[in-house]
Amino acid sequence: MRPALLDHVSRLTDEDLPAYVYDLPGLREHVQAIRAALPERVELLYAAKANSDPQILRTLAGHVDGFEVASGGEQSHVRQLLPEAPIAFGGPGKTSAELTSALDTAVERLHIESEHELRLLTTLLGDRTVDVLLRVNLPVDLGQVALAMGGHPSPFGMDPLHLDRCLKVIASDPRIRLRGLHLHLASGLEAQAQLALADKLLTWADDWTRERRVALAEVNVGGGMGVDYTHPGNVFDWSAFGAGLREILDRRPHLTLRIEPGRSITAYCGWYVTQVLDIKFSRGEAFAVLRGGTHHLRTPAAKQHDQPFEVIPDEVWFRPWDRPEAHDKPVTLVGQLCTPKDVLARRVMVERLRIGDRVAFAMAGAYAWNISHHAFLMHPHPTFHHLDDAEASVPGIYAHQRA
Ligand SMILES: Cc1ncc(COP(=O)(O)O)c(C=O)c1O
Repeated sequence: MRPALLDHVSRLTDEDLPAYVYDLPGLREHVQAIRAALPERVELLYAAKANSDPQILRTLAGHVDGFEVASGGEQSHVRQLLPEAPIAFGGPGKTSAELTSALDTAVERLHIESEHELRLLTTLLGDRTVDVLLRVNLPVDLGQVALAMGGHPSPFGMDPLHLDRCLKVIASDPRIRLRGLHLHLASGLEAQAQLALADKLLTWADDWTRERRVALAEVNVGGGMGVDYTHPGNVFDWSAFGAGLREILDRRPHLTLRIEPGRSITAYCGWYVTQVLDIKFSRGEAFAVLRGGTHHLRTPAAKQHDQPFEVIPDEVWFRPWDRPEAHDKPVTLVGQLCTPKDVLARRVMVERLRIGDRVAFAMAGAYAWNISHHAFLMHPHPTFHHLDDAEASVPGIYAHQRA
């Protein structure tokens, strides 16, 4: 943990715990480095589903080209916070109300999931126009990935076979402009694998464009840049990715490439800080029961990993009995829920862990609080803290405003 953050965390009182602490200067530095590694013709959107905390969105606003949202709720949240932000609206099962609201608030792109959704859109447009990307689920072998949303039969996007029918609908309706294709398939790929996949997807798009004689201005290859919870120092290689994309784009001088990562942008800026309530030994095996649990930080349960953590010793002990502790042995860190699934890290070696010590779980800035089952057992919610960022309240400058 960076010293500035540790200082911030040590000023939290026990009553503040569990607490989510977001490192906004760290986030800004990280997204700036990502932006700097990407070629000009790559537009960087942030997938708000990873974490739509208002201060996180404001911090990102000056450094991304827009936001990808996947529901009417996310769309109005982002629009309200950042009235000027370019928004791309994707995701399956959009309702008429969501599509209408997207049109009313001038979303920049709609990612169309099916022929039905496209036809529904035509009934809602009135005298408005809209820019769309058709989302296609290409039959590409993805190998071993953390989360595959396509490449196999799935409810995401449409089969390439169905594209022709969509082209007919678009050809007969001048209000719909086909900007390009949306080809997100998977999450959890490291840089070389992402590049190889992007190359495959774009080669397919080139062939399709040629065969169908359509002009594509842009292709969105999605998000999914890998985040390694087992080796936190193994960060996605944005420099190699940027260099590879430059080569891919050099071969396609008229194309704009869009990416929409979520996890790899915000995972590192978030910490879930809590405290040991009890230490138990069950048949010789050590368990630390923590305040809070997976109803606040569901990520390790959802992904079946050990959430990386740091122990912050707390020397205060005022009970008249010996302070229970586990030392030099593997400990399983669990929460307060009455379920064996409430495990944050399993059999991890610790030097020493005592009742009252604080535990700060790292990489809790994406798909963490916002995907957790907060209501289960009615425990209090965590408190939220942001390491200050002077720029967080400054509205962003977006690509279309720079142009
Ligand atoms: C269409 C789409 N775009 C972007 C993302 C963001 O993926 P990640 O957070 O893995 O970068 C997702 C995640 O599921 C997605 O479905």
